Amino acid sequence: MAKLPILHFPDPRLRTKAKPVLVVDDTIRRLANDMLETMYDAPGVGLAASQVNHHIRLLVIDITEEKNQPMVFINPVITPLTDATVPYEEGCLSVPSIYDFVERYARVSVTALNEHGESFTLEADGLLAVCLQHEQDHLDGKLFVDYLSSLKRQRIKAKMLKQQKQNA
Ligand code: NI
Repeated sequence: MAKLPILHFPDPRLRTKAKPVLVVDDTIRRLANDMLETMYDAPGVGLAASQVNHHIRLLVIDITEEKNQPMVFINPVITPLTDATVPYEEGCLSVPSIYDFVERYARVSVTALNEHGESFTLEADGLLAVCLQHEQDHLDGKLFVDYLSSLKRQRIKAKMLKQQKQNA
């Protein structure tokens, strides 16, 4: 396994629309494992392939405290199961140290392939539902800061660019 570099907002590569995975093979499984290692190390609860500059529809999530329930979602399709939305304070490994509230559907269903290429469907609420919607957005080139006011987003962008300059 290997840790992968994470792209940071406002990197334009984060705006790429990811393509479906055509074959679930060892290359995909290796990438999923590397993404899990990267996510656990960060630490975070979810990571989309887009964030490590692989523009394919692949997500990894583990919302457990113990970090022992890794989930892999390939070509995920998320369907809201309710019109009700809940505010949740989100963060993102691509927008480090920024947290803000976003409204997400309270309950969703997700159908995806697992790392063996098998289709599965599950229903989610709470943090898992939020995380799935947040990560799915990454695959469409969307970030949680896009839900905030443009003034807030400009401030975050300026802060990120300053940080990136300092770290360069
Ligand atoms: Ni994110």
